[in-house]
Amino acid sequence: MKKDLISIVDIKEDLLDIIDLALEMKRRRQMGEMYESLKNKSLAMIFEKPSTRTRVSFEVAMTQLGGHALYLSPRDMQLGRGETIADTARVLSRYVDAIVYRAYDHNNVVELAENATVPVINALDNVEHPCQIVADLMTIKEKKGALRGLKLAYVGDGNNVAHSLMLGSAIVGMNFYIACPEGYEPNEEIVAQARKLANETGAKIVVTHDPIEAVKDADVIYTDVWVSMGDEAEKEKREKAFKPYQVNIDLVRHAKSDYIFMHCLPAHRGYEVTDDVIDSRNSVVFDEAENRLHAQKAILVRLIKQ
Ligand code: CP
Ligand code: NVA
Repeated sequence: MKKDLISIVDIKEDLLDIIDLALEMKRRRQMGEMYESLKNKSLAMIFEKPSTRTRVSFEVAMTQLGGHALYLSPRDMQLGRGETIADTARVLSRYVDAIVYRAYDHNNVVELAENATVPVINALDNVEHPCQIVADLMTIKEKKGALRGLKLAYVGDGNNVAHSLMLGSAIVGMNFYIACPEGYEPNEEIVAQARKLANETGAKIVVTHDPIEAVKDADVIYTDVWVSMGDEAEKEKREKAFKPYQVNIDLVRHAKSDYIFMHCLPAHRGYEVTDDVIDSRNSVVFDEAENRLHAQKAILVRLIKQ
């Protein structure tokens, strides 16, 4: 049976092992050891939206694992001229060993997965960004030594990154507080799903409108853009609503003194985060970005048949 990664919950049972494998991949790379377990394997990567980290880290991951990745834009594919997602899935499955898909619509990722006979990996859609969260949890474990019992404060939009991070925190037993403006809360069904998962691990899932309540004594402060890809029409409205939720020096003072600052990037400096926070000694954003590479390798090794 092939395994897809559409939601972080799809790898619930394996998440801690994948994080440890990602840390192991990083160690091997630092030691200069080769690990070519995907020799002669190919990965198709369909990107409907722009990407720097996800695209480059998956492509380099396949190279380092001895395989090959193809970047595909719907603009240059028959998909952009009306070939169906289902037929695209069936055809690509005859050539490649897995498909990475960044889509505007979550349903399209599900449809591709339903019709592909090879694993489909969600490279971000409007609901989740699971690969990001594997790298984030890996980074927290690397910096803090553990995950369970920590407090993570997410300040900003209840978006795709927030959803996957909330579910991932619930799975690993990390307390997750999200502070967002009214009207920008995370999806209620996903909050309910996270609370159910959290019941098994003892994690707390708290949704608040008060950024200080979220950040108080936090071990990790996380934010993301106020205007996600696809939300551009709401830019002005959002910038106004999110202004009190900026992660700046005054806000981070409420966290533990050894807190780490995280951001999936790209950052919009001066909006969701100020330079004095993202460039501070507490910030781990570039280690987090590097860890996307090691995390993608762990994900690929786990999902692709060898
Ligand atoms: N964090 C992230 O997914 O970045 P990209 O959009 O550059 O891939
Ligand atoms: N929430 C952002 C994440 C970018 C990596 C977006 O969807 O645009």
